[in-house]
Amino acid sequence: MSPARLAPFPFSRPRRLRQAGWIRDLVRETRLRPEDLIWPMFVREGVDAEEPIPSMPGVSRLTVDRAVEAARRAADLGIPCVALFPYTEAENKSPEAEEAWNPDNLVNTATRAIKKALPEMGVLLDVALDPYNSDGHDGIVRDGVILNDETLLALEKQALAQAEAGCDILGPSDMMDGRIGVIRRALEENEFPDTMIMSYAAKYASAFYGPFRDAVGATGALKGDKKTYQMDYANTDEALREVAADLEEGADMVMVKPGMPYLDICHRVKTTFQVPTFAYQVSGEYAMLAGAIANGWLDGDRVILESLGAFRRAGCDGILTYFAPQAAELLDSAG
Ligand code: PBG
Repeated sequence: MSPARLAPFPFSRPRRLRQAGWIRDLVRETRLRPEDLIWPMFVREGVDAEEPIPSMPGVSRLTVDRAVEAARRAADLGIPCVALFPYTEAENKSPEAEEAWNPDNLVNTATRAIKKALPEMGVLLDVALDPYNSDGHDGIVRDGVILNDETLLALEKQALAQAEAGCDILGPSDMMDGRIGVIRRALEENEFPDTMIMSYAAKYASAFYGPFRDAVGATGALKGDKKTYQMDYANTDEALREVAADLEEGADMVMVKPGMPYLDICHRVKTTFQVPTFAYQVSGEYAMLAGAIANGWLDGDRVILESLGAFRRAGCDGILTYFAPQAAELLDSAG
């Protein structure tokens, strides 16, 4: 007996293209590769040690030598770039955040060490004062007010110290007005014409940064919130204005942050500007997934790749993610 058939037949059967792995591979619209990933890591003082970050299961603060080892692992996995963030001891924090432009601060030291060991590994550094500021803010604070233009002067010094240390990509993440122009001019005037800028262009005031602030030791320090400089999560058009301004001022690439809850912004930025567009799957997104994976509530291997694939589908060229090494391993074993 012939199987039950519907009449009229569905001539359009989308399932035809899903019937086997080989055809699904052939018609897949977007792909994720290790080359699309940037691996953010936390650096601390000391030697040959690492210290787990409780709110980011699986992520540790690494001493510089361990960060070099991690960068070597990134290279072996095909990850092209690492992003370094410092855990700053309280004695190195101050109201003017001078440690930010210390040529021998943790991230500058780590950058030199990584570039020496692995000249082909890209290094990205945040330009922002929050790890060094005793107020925990990204800008200089006086009488409770975040001072825009005073902060620009500090960011300029920080950016030049980082470029001098060999940093390839500066990531201004402070959201002060005019920072990209100030940094770009300083780079040109000081013979760093090739230093790239990936601006945290559309950076929202987000509760998803909580674990990061633990990781860099800023949680207790932060007074108030960052809503006078980071964006309101209700807004989209404003993100396009921020991106337009940063490109105009000399950014080479732009970033949207956080990531998963902001895929609409990623898509709109990419379709509007057609410039290299990155997203940061931030610490809170990592913590949500890593926590559920650790409890056995989500299938880690699948959910990591699905969450990162969503960024590619939204139009992102690349993703900053704490899952970078696991994802690269999974992609390697799948390929
Ligand atoms: C600092 C900075 C933050 C992050 C990256 N750079 C925190 C903040 O703005 O408060 C967050 C990254 C993450 O949550 O993983 N300007």
